[in-house]
Amino acid sequence: MKPTGLKIIDHIAYLNGKSLVELAKEYQTPLYVIDEIGLRKTLTMYQTYFKGQHFESKIVYASKAFLTPAIAEIINEYHFYMDAVSIGDLYIASKANFPMKKIVFHGNNKQIEELEFAINQNVGLIVVDNLVELKTLTKLLQQYHHQQDILIRVNPGIDAHTHEYIQTAKFTSKFGESIYDEKVIDEMIQIIKESTYLHLQGFHAHIGSQIHELVAYNLEIEKMVSFQTKIMNLYQLDLPILNIGGGFGIKYHNDEQSLSVEEMMIGISQKLDMVLQDNKRIKKVMIEPGRSIIGPNGFTLYQCSQIKHTYGGKNYLFIDGGMTDNIRPALYGAIYECDIVNKMDMEKTLLVDVVGKCCESGDIIRKDVLIPPFETNDILIVYATGAYNYSMSSNYNNLLKPAVVMVGNKVKVISRKETLEDLMRLFK
Ligand code: LLP
Repeated sequence: MKPTGLKIIDHIAYLNGKSLVELAKEYQTPLYVIDEIGLRKTLTMYQTYFKGQHFESKIVYASKAFLTPAIAEIINEYHFYMDAVSIGDLYIASKANFPMKKIVFHGNNKQIEELEFAINQNVGLIVVDNLVELKTLTKLLQQYHHQQDILIRVNPGIDAHTHEYIQTAKFTSKFGESIYDEKVIDEMIQIIKESTYLHLQGFHAHIGSQIHELVAYNLEIEKMVSFQTKIMNLYQLDLPILNIGGGFGIKYHNDEQSLSVEEMMIGISQKLDMVLQDNKRIKKVMIEPGRSIIGPNGFTLYQCSQIKHTYGGKNYLFIDGGMTDNIRPALYGAIYECDIVNKMDMEKTLLVDVVGKCCESGDIIRKDVLIPPFETNDILIVYATGAYNYSMSSNYNNLLKPAVVMVGNKVKVISRKETLEDLMRLFK
């Protein structure tokens, strides 16, 4: 999936009028690039299409996909909420002056220090993962005399078709408590009823990531609305918020079928309207998209140094980054599309594996891809790397983390490239 602002003039790729060859030269490769105009368009699409007559919509950006202060500021400009899953996320959000009342705090094993930080920062919603965590939180809230809105994360038992590592709602998943575990749910509700500090607002579920099927969400909505309604009736509670999580898939490779944000959001909103029209008690519905917001609006540029023709007949295109800046092919078998930005629309005749510079044979960014005739210093673009690339990057082999630039009407460095001194900062 190419960013919307990408144009080709005389075989050279431009993003919002800026030559990518120049950008690579100016800011050094590897380089993460965010299409600011595209990102803003995507945020507007979410606002436009996640809407219904029978519910108030709340969009929560899943910041684990990509978080820097500049991104948090843009997310806030569009009045989105934002999720956080660690004290680190909370810290960055607070440093970016993100309104902490609009933070939804997740995590399956929140540490006491993290819960205390969340309490002290007046985080709006804590999503309690399990019974043990609820007990810990109850004690802390008592200690701090702090009133806290919470959701309970439940597992509705939906087998969405995605990679095993990013499935989250099978019965064996480590996240949440099962909606079928009546004993645990009952114990949790009793604790909440007894506490003067806990304010249960509703339930949360997230059925996985990179999901292309609307049918999985339809099933989730049906199950969650009926579960939440049952609990409201059974315990005489008012639970106005339902959070159905994120996970909306994007198109990484050309053969992948995926729904646009517009299609997915229209489908989900219609389903919610249908299910909620006779249910006046669930008033607000939250979604938590991460990948579909930032993924297609980001890409990575690399410099190509050589083609190695192996004795065994394989051609390797060597690039100056690799699994340290994009672990997804190695971890999930993700397939990315790529091009040479100074040779766009030229005939592709050379079959290569694009490989990185790490000491790992699995350091492959793209297997079996055709490229135009090669010259040293060609610049490779790998599309749709905006989500879970920077946030999962590492310093393996002591490679330096690339800079991130955001290209709108101007180019802004939103995270600088690491330096050799940065590598030494923790050592004693
Ligand atoms: N809400 C919750 C509770 C989540 O756990 C996640 C993602 C999201 C929302 C956002 O899902 P998204 O819309 O971005 O798919 N590292 C993996 C993805 C892990 C997703 C973790 N949770 C990858 O690179 O594919």
